[in-house]
Amino acid sequence: MARKITDKVTWVGKIDWELEEFHGHEFTTRKGSSYNSYLIRDEKTALIDTVWKPFDEEFVANLKREVDLSSIDYIIMNHNEIDHSGALPALMREIPDTPIYCTRKGEEIIRGHYHADWNFVNVKTGDRLSLGAAELIFIEAPMLHWPDTMFTYLTGENILFSNDGFGQHYATESLYNDAADQGELWAEAVKYYANILNPFSPMVARKLAEIQKLDLPLQLICPSHGVIWKDNPAQIVEAYAKWAAAYQENQVTLIYDSMWNATRRMAECIAEGIKEAAPETTVKLYNAAVDDKTEICTEVFKSKAILIGSSTVNNGYLYSIAGILEMIKGLKFKQKKAAAFGSYGWSGEAVKQLSEYLEKSGFALVNEGLRCPWQPDETKLEECRAYGREFAKSL
Ligand code: FEO
Repeated sequence: MARKITDKVTWVGKIDWELEEFHGHEFTTRKGSSYNSYLIRDEKTALIDTVWKPFDEEFVANLKREVDLSSIDYIIMNHNEIDHSGALPALMREIPDTPIYCTRKGEEIIRGHYHADWNFVNVKTGDRLSLGAAELIFIEAPMLHWPDTMFTYLTGENILFSNDGFGQHYATESLYNDAADQGELWAEAVKYYANILNPFSPMVARKLAEIQKLDLPLQLICPSHGVIWKDNPAQIVEAYAKWAAAYQENQVTLIYDSMWNATRRMAECIAEGIKEAAPETTVKLYNAAVDDKTEICTEVFKSKAILIGSSTVNNGYLYSIAGILEMIKGLKFKQKKAAAFGSYGWSGEAVKQLSEYLEKSGFALVNEGLRCPWQPDETKLEECRAYGREFAKSL
């Protein structure tokens, strides 16, 4: 159902309460998501973004209840990943000649996805489109998080339509940030940044500085996922500035998997040692085989150091660890420390291989790691605690 935001702007998106995974199986969305689309009515009418393909018919039907589709003068596509452009084919079947405003890359992506020859108008930073009393100003934002991404600013109402930027995979009836559960909202906002935008942090920092220089008054930030930032929208901009600057808290995260619990016992004792030497440090443990991978990556984002543990199996490490390491490498974390640990029976290569992988992924190695043959006895467990204490002191 459409929801009025201002005299000119109406939310016409879709809340997806049941979404459990996003980007295939890459991102777990424990709180669902939403695909926000916005209708702007001035002397001219513009639609900003659409919704994901499974909701295309529902989206078009709802939109028809809100507006005569033939009165839509412009479609603005800020970003053309399928969760925002998926309903375009259904919409364009109804209004095939309506111009689609997007970046040059955006046109390339739409053509690549839908193989349709629609009426594209390419825009660049600073281009303006008059809607009557108000104007749209386009701001390219490449790699936030795709090459086609742009933001659109509405003058008069002072609204920044930021697409994925400042978004959250968060299904809620609270349209605005101040009405949402603050714990859930911020947990989803940081998870979104850590898992989607972190690799592009240098571009985020540059874009924020550029937008600040434009000195545009900002009443609302309307992203394409989650809540609208209405109460002090600058707070999410400030959070992004902080997150883009190699963010870390006083936290150490241990991620492990274990065949016969030896590596798990090592993890627990290393954690005890860290806590003993640095009681004010938050220490968290995750088993990569059973815990939520997206949450684990968020915890890595928040950490100043991580420890990765695996048993040695078939001259390597466990596949759950291989999976989480690949995710961690792709997220390009900066200025974090790391080390590896694990138990083994005879060959015992895992710790060395994990150390090499961590180094290749941009982590500064604290030491050569800690290995334990077979099951740790009390002496070995005390060695793990001592290792944890030393690890904490080196941070
Ligand atoms: Fe929400 Fe990059 O799509």
